[in-house]
Amino acid sequence: SIDQKVADLLSKMTLEEKVGQLVQYSGFEYATGPQNSNSASVLDEIKKGKVGSMLNVAGTEETRSFQKLALQSRLKIPLLFGQDVIHGYRTTFPVNLGQAASWDFGLIERSERIAATEASAYGIHWTFAPMVDIARDPRWGRVMEGSGEDTYLGTKIGLARIKGFQGKGLGNIDAVMACAKHFAAYGAAVGGRDYNSVDMSLRQLHETYLPPFKAAAEAGVATFMNSFNDINGIPATANKYIQRDLLKGKWNYQGFVVSDWGSIGEMVPHGYAKDNKEAAEKAILAGSDMDMESRAYMAELPGLVKEGKVDAKFIDDAARRILIKKFEMGLFDDPYRFSNDKRQQEQTNNLENRKFGREFGSKSIVLLKNANKVLPLSKSTKTVALIGPFGKETTANHGFWSVAFKDDNQRIVTQFDGIKNQLDKKSTLLYAKGCNADDQDTSMFAEAIETAKKADVVIMTLGEGHAMSGEAKSRSNIHFSGVQEELLKEIAKTGKPIVLMINAGRPLVFDWAADNISTIMYTWWLGTEAGNSIADVLFGTVNPAGKLPMSFPRTEGQIPVYYNHYNTGRPAKNNTDRNYVSAYIDLDNDPKFPFGYGLSYTDFNYSDMTLSSTDLKGNQTLEIKVTVSNKGKYDGEEVVQLYIRDLFGKVVRPVKELKGFQKIFIKKGESKTVNFKLTPEDLKFYDDALNYDWESGEFDIMVGTSSKDVQTKRINWVK
Ligand code: IFM
Repeated sequence: SIDQKVADLLSKMTLEEKVGQLVQYSGFEYATGPQNSNSASVLDEIKKGKVGSMLNVAGTEETRSFQKLALQSRLKIPLLFGQDVIHGYRTTFPVNLGQAASWDFGLIERSERIAATEASAYGIHWTFAPMVDIARDPRWGRVMEGSGEDTYLGTKIGLARIKGFQGKGLGNIDAVMACAKHFAAYGAAVGGRDYNSVDMSLRQLHETYLPPFKAAAEAGVATFMNSFNDINGIPATANKYIQRDLLKGKWNYQGFVVSDWGSIGEMVPHGYAKDNKEAAEKAILAGSDMDMESRAYMAELPGLVKEGKVDAKFIDDAARRILIKKFEMGLFDDPYRFSNDKRQQEQTNNLENRKFGREFGSKSIVLLKNANKVLPLSKSTKTVALIGPFGKETTANHGFWSVAFKDDNQRIVTQFDGIKNQLDKKSTLLYAKGCNADDQDTSMFAEAIETAKKADVVIMTLGEGHAMSGEAKSRSNIHFSGVQEELLKEIAKTGKPIVLMINAGRPLVFDWAADNISTIMYTWWLGTEAGNSIADVLFGTVNPAGKLPMSFPRTEGQIPVYYNHYNTGRPAKNNTDRNYVSAYIDLDNDPKFPFGYGLSYTDFNYSDMTLSSTDLKGNQTLEIKVTVSNKGKYDGEEVVQLYIRDLFGKVVRPVKELKGFQKIFIKKGESKTVNFKLTPEDLKFYDDALNYDWESGEFDIMVGTSSKDVQTKRINWVK
């Protein structure tokens, strides 16, 4: 068995060789953190068996050459190659928050299957994904990588991603190890500032932030990554409660935990360890198995063991967990099995994968406004003008975590090309950049205004630039960057119909546009096929069905705003109620666009919902039915959402909690009945002593097209 093989191997290893398995360095060409590599010494250490894994080493040639070095070590233990395969690999897909807007687990799983197939063909064994951090603050640049603000949706999406990455199981040639990150509560960094502190009740932690991780552990995710933040005063990397007691204890997790880049060493500036030595001690005792780029484990752990400060059993356990994965991946049978030129060639520009990317892109778009039914556009519109800094952009469309391939920008389908390809040959597509994404230069305005005047329809493409969402990309101002809003105002003065497309990795604040422009779609950053996906929606080949996975704030001052908040003792009666209630005196209470919101080209009608009972006992099941009719002119998909509210509890409960949804396709003129089931399991919550249970009482059952637009029925459910 693998356990036996690992035990045999461990019995032959020196302490240094065991610690070597716990060490991970970055390759030298591409850095995803502050680089401190001394390449010559890293290569030498690999040969001495002092390195267990490399990140940012990719491609058959490069992985093979590093593996060759590892096989020169005394015990010939192969390296694991990890990389951030976050929203696709050779074929890039919408940024993850955009993917979440599809509310489509099938598409999400398939995208990760493709990403895993491509990455594994490039010699990659391990992706640092999925990021399952729940996040309610769009100032945080990493909301782009997650599934938004909701624990239910985020948990299910995390599971779909893990299934996609790990495929039929580790050991298959197209399966990569997944990594649930960042453990834990990284998404709650104060003020949305990256790497910042988190201080929250354990109840909140368990209720909102931990469920996706627990589910990932139960689903067999191969690895976990801890987080940069301190949590309740203790850096996550040294957080024994989270890593040892919960993850490896209560949840009985058998995989291994990698630190985030440098997070062991960062305990020194955190003020939690006086030097790297103490940091290494605290991290290993707390259950951090692998040291990514802190260079603390190899330098300090052997000495700490010899001094008796760290029991050798902790090193053995960490090395054992890592070696098990190397065996499961088949690397001891053939260390080069993932470095196969033929497979790499097949996956370099795979047209089937691109085809899927096009579909996925279009399914991630959210239609926010279509007041005058300007969309879908006719392909024979005589003159269309595309205006804005993203029309011919390439890099931005890939999104933050595209892993710097030299030909990336040639492979992208720009918005201009996508639109041009679908517009009738007799029609004209004009283009003007209008301004840059991020400076104060207005000198291109005049040309853009002239261009707009010549057009029947103007498509404005605005948002934020490639380097404005992602790691270390927190923003205090999340409006369109630079002078884009001024450009929009100038173009609006021409009186031409405007279709505004917003390109961003996060929810932006665009209050003026939301109030003054009648057609708006949120196009995120859509990846390699961006231009085609966008054109498919603009011209109606695809009827948009995306729904927002995060609430969109009215202003930055409203953040955090999320649908599943508590009621407070003084809830506002309506949006403008200011009579000593919990509200801002200068702002409506609700967000600009609510969680779960998104329009279609067609119109859906909901019948009154029916409930199997309004008085339930014990373990009964509540059945909820609603019929949705497509009354509009197009076939379309709708995400029917189910929320509950527990009216009174031992602890206060949210005003709404998503408990289920179904994405259904309905042909025009037809109807479909959707059935939901709820059991007491769906009513459970953590009380202040962290008991997870439900209570007898009244509940509101809500069904609707968004978190705001629901119908409600009250039930009574007793134990
Ligand atoms: O995987 C990432 C992590 O999410 C943030 N810091 C760097 C890691 C490796 O690139």
